[in-house]
Amino acid sequence: MKQYKVGVIGGTGMVGQRFVTLMENHPWFQLTAIAASGRSAGKTYEEAAGKRWQLDIPMPDEAKNIIVLNAGTDLKKMADQVDFVFCAVDMDKEQVRALEDEMAKYECPVVSNNSANRFTPDIPMVVPEINPEHIGVIEFQKKRLGTKRGFIAVKSNCSLQSYVPALHPLRSFGLDKVLVSTYQAISGAGKTFQTWPEMLDNVIPYIGGEEEKSEKEPLKLWGKMDGGQIVTAQSPSITAQCIRVPVANGHMASVFASFEKTPSKDEILDIWQNYKGRAQELNLPSAPKQFLHYFTEDNRPQTRLDRDLEGGMAISIGRLRPDTQYDYKFVCLSHNTLRGAAGGAVLLAELLCAEGYMD
Ligand SMILES: NC(=O)c1ccc[n+]([C@@H]2O[C@H](COP(=O)([O-])OP(=O)(O)OC[C@H]3O[C@@H](n4cnc5c(N)ncnc54)[C@H](OP(=O)(O)O)[C@@H]3O)[C@@H](O)[C@H]2O)c1
Repeated sequence: MKQYKVGVIGGTGMVGQRFVTLMENHPWFQLTAIAASGRSAGKTYEEAAGKRWQLDIPMPDEAKNIIVLNAGTDLKKMADQVDFVFCAVDMDKEQVRALEDEMAKYECPVVSNNSANRFTPDIPMVVPEINPEHIGVIEFQKKRLGTKRGFIAVKSNCSLQSYVPALHPLRSFGLDKVLVSTYQAISGAGKTFQTWPEMLDNVIPYIGGEEEKSEKEPLKLWGKMDGGQIVTAQSPSITAQCIRVPVANGHMASVFASFEKTPSKDEILDIWQNYKGRAQELNLPSAPKQFLHYFTEDNRPQTRLDRDLEGGMAISIGRLRPDTQYDYKFVCLSHNTLRGAAGGAVLLAELLCAEGYMD
């Protein structure tokens, strides 16, 4: 496989740090450039991010001496050095759209973790195991942008990465109604227990904007390409409640679902066990071998035990049983900064490379 030079915009932040570590030893991607705000620009990556390194694994040596570029003024310089960029910045949505557009117009593809472009109709929002065909809309986006090679592709919010994968292969039974409560880790807010000690021994029943994303974004993932854009699906109806819990990493979801034609429990277990997506068919480097893992033990999945399954890229499911008000209930778990953020974006970039969009 061809080697790709990769940049990370927002590389000093929590998601950015994950991108930087995921580039270490990646078989196709080589970390070449990092950009962040003016506060970090001009420093080595070690100077800019060393004191606020938030991961358990150490900073890769290959990143330490990279001079951080200014995402405000150096984008053209960055575009000239790389084949594509990952983007995970903490800026307002208008600024993010302007930044991502500018980079795409420099003919540099952008794989984004930000929410700003998730509902731009000709920008695909992709989970490679769910809607890989949506990348076809990129040809129409390039016409709008006037680019030959530059485009933007995004990944969806971390909250839904646990339950949408479990529900997806069950849609053939007429998935009708979904109720979900998520129990979300503090790293989803870019925090650790050191930087957010108020979360110790505490639960906060509100995460700004998260419930809307959890209800709306699955419908774009399940949408259809039509007339050069993605038209969102009309069903299922989803209601969500999102809660912050004192966990470092790993978003859990408690799910209730009803169907037009109710499957048996064995049918559901069989479908989960055998489900493979495009990422598995293409054998992408970051793809979990078994996308959906079902645990038969009543006390699994557990956040600490199971969030790192298959490099934090697999989805864990458990406690499937009939419900008195919905057809079934079950729980799901995924790693929010791996599958839910940087890892999911790396997998999307691998899909785009394998399908020829990065050449
Ligand atoms: N954490 C998660 O699990 C998660 C999951 C899904 C999506 N996200 C999304 O990913 C994005 C990044 O999240 P995060 O948790 O990594 O945030 P973070 O730790 O606060 O990092 C923010 C990054 O943005 C850069 N930045 C801030 N203002 C900037 C500016 N004006 N110009 C250029 N760069 C600027 C920062 O650079 P400096 O270091 O120089 O300030 C830093 O690199 C957010 O949009 C977030 O919603 C996060």
